[in-house]
Amino acid sequence: MQESRRRRRMAITGVAIGALAATGLTFASANQALAEEGCKVDYKVVSTWGSGFQANVTITADEPINGWELKWNFPSGTTVSSAWNVSWSQSGTAFTGKDVGWNASIGSGQSREVFGFIGSGSSTAPGQFTVNGDVCNGPVDPPTSDDPTSDDPTSPGEPGDKVDNPYAGAQVYVNPIWSANAAAEPGGDAIADQPTGVWLDRTSAIYGNDSPTTGSMGLEDHLDEALEQGADVIQVVIYNLPGRDCAALASNGELAADEIDEYKNDYIDPIVDIMGQSKYADLKIVNVIEIDSLPNLVTNVSPRATATDNCDTMKANGNYIDGISYATAELGALPNTYNYLDAGHHGWIGWTNDDPQYDNFHASAELWGSLIGENGMTADDVHGFITNTANYSVLEEPYWDVDQVVGGRPINQNGDVKWVDWNSYNGEIDFATALREELIDNGFNEDIGMLIDTSRNGWGGDYRPTGPSTSTNPIEFVDESRLDQRYNKGNWCNQAGAGLGERPQANPEPGIDAYVWIKPPGESDGASEEIPNNEGKGFDEMCDPDYQGNIRNGNNPSGARDDMPLSGHWSSEQFAELLANAYPPL
Ligand code: GLC
Repeated sequence: MQESRRRRRMAITGVAIGALAATGLTFASANQALAEEGCKVDYKVVSTWGSGFQANVTITADEPINGWELKWNFPSGTTVSSAWNVSWSQSGTAFTGKDVGWNASIGSGQSREVFGFIGSGSSTAPGQFTVNGDVCNGPVDPPTSDDPTSDDPTSPGEPGDKVDNPYAGAQVYVNPIWSANAAAEPGGDAIADQPTGVWLDRTSAIYGNDSPTTGSMGLEDHLDEALEQGADVIQVVIYNLPGRDCAALASNGELAADEIDEYKNDYIDPIVDIMGQSKYADLKIVNVIEIDSLPNLVTNVSPRATATDNCDTMKANGNYIDGISYATAELGALPNTYNYLDAGHHGWIGWTNDDPQYDNFHASAELWGSLIGENGMTADDVHGFITNTANYSVLEEPYWDVDQVVGGRPINQNGDVKWVDWNSYNGEIDFATALREELIDNGFNEDIGMLIDTSRNGWGGDYRPTGPSTSTNPIEFVDESRLDQRYNKGNWCNQAGAGLGERPQANPEPGIDAYVWIKPPGESDGASEEIPNNEGKGFDEMCDPDYQGNIRNGNNPSGARDDMPLSGHWSSEQFAELLANAYPPL
């Protein structure tokens, strides 16, 4: 009963990410009337550079078309500079393209790549297309795979042939457990159909335990439910390393520092077996691999003053490298998986100093590069990297640049400006874009894509500035101009004042595969006071609102919310604040 109610709800709400409209909702094939009227537009971004991009457009029709007029609205600020095989015009955001005679006809059930263009601005696909006045969001029967005109980036690939961006045009799985938690809160319906990560945060989560994220559903239940939803993509978080979260305590896990065999045999191997079943061949499984792990071996080890004993241990025993390379190699060998390795965020890894003592950026990229070759892991096993997972760093600061000169000196060369403190970045887009290049230089493939977790980086509250400060004092200037309201970027636990960030979407920026909500909004980062538990979780003072900090957050107040439950557990109060401070607003 419970189950079928949930299924019905999901079928109705579905979920959109990016160009879902281009893919079409998934209707039962019995619905012939709709199917007969179906058509579909694929908007395929084939390359990007700076703010420029090239896209090719394909129409699939169920009824024969003889002469087409295709219309859409671009994201604002996007313009076409040239186009081929099309007679086109643009007014504001509205684009109209007509056939040029020889490409006018599309047979029934056929896909035809009708034209291409060069644009600048946002390469995110428009949300809706019309052909000859009809909203053209499908459904159509998928073109058969031997159809030579078929060039559908969203159609399930053959084993071994992974698509460049699994999120492009994809419907992404909505976790019904999180969705029900969200929908039960006041106003929660507004976001309850957003896709969030399924966290396998202990071995028992593979089979279903009582955690708030996975509830009674094990991994196989979630994957089956994804098929049921007609989802193209599901996002799974692989998070159970030995000696987990070595620089903090709130998300310490069940495996001790030396339990690498347990990690491989009892955790990774069963996940690989489940994901590898043939019934999931057409489902793209995004694996977000091991949050908050490797960069700790750069920033929180001796001889640095920020070192912790646990991180020194994990560096010395090699079990982070062993575990992550094993997980990545084993999962990467499956034809339907897309591995994204966790890459911290700009407020952690953004220091690019030439002096190794202060450089986090190059050293981290080198460390990721060193995974290649371990446990048989190859560059092909890595589809990309994810930044800002479960963190609060903004996408960009619109009102100031880090190297802007204020008070006679560039901000990032002025040690008095503690918010920046010589960091080369002030937002995730620039950081992720630069890190991507650095990772390619360290052996990863040229076509890797980045993800950014925007679940809680909106900062849309009352304090959000609306323009740059006029102060000539650099400290005041930055504090009055910045969106991110934390005391310090090293603060990571239940930040008071935070809001939901950009809604999940595909292709938001060149090189960025998607904005995603991996951290399920409403789930705590850690308890604000000690709570006994059997999940291996410790108490971290960074989650205590009264704590005045340590060297890892520049000795600042923790900025954490009060009355918070164990990490991963639900907080109605935090959820409400995230909704209230959402940016873009809901
Ligand atoms: C934290 C918790 C983990 C939970 C995750 C998502 O990292 O330690 O148990 O699944 O957040 O909320």
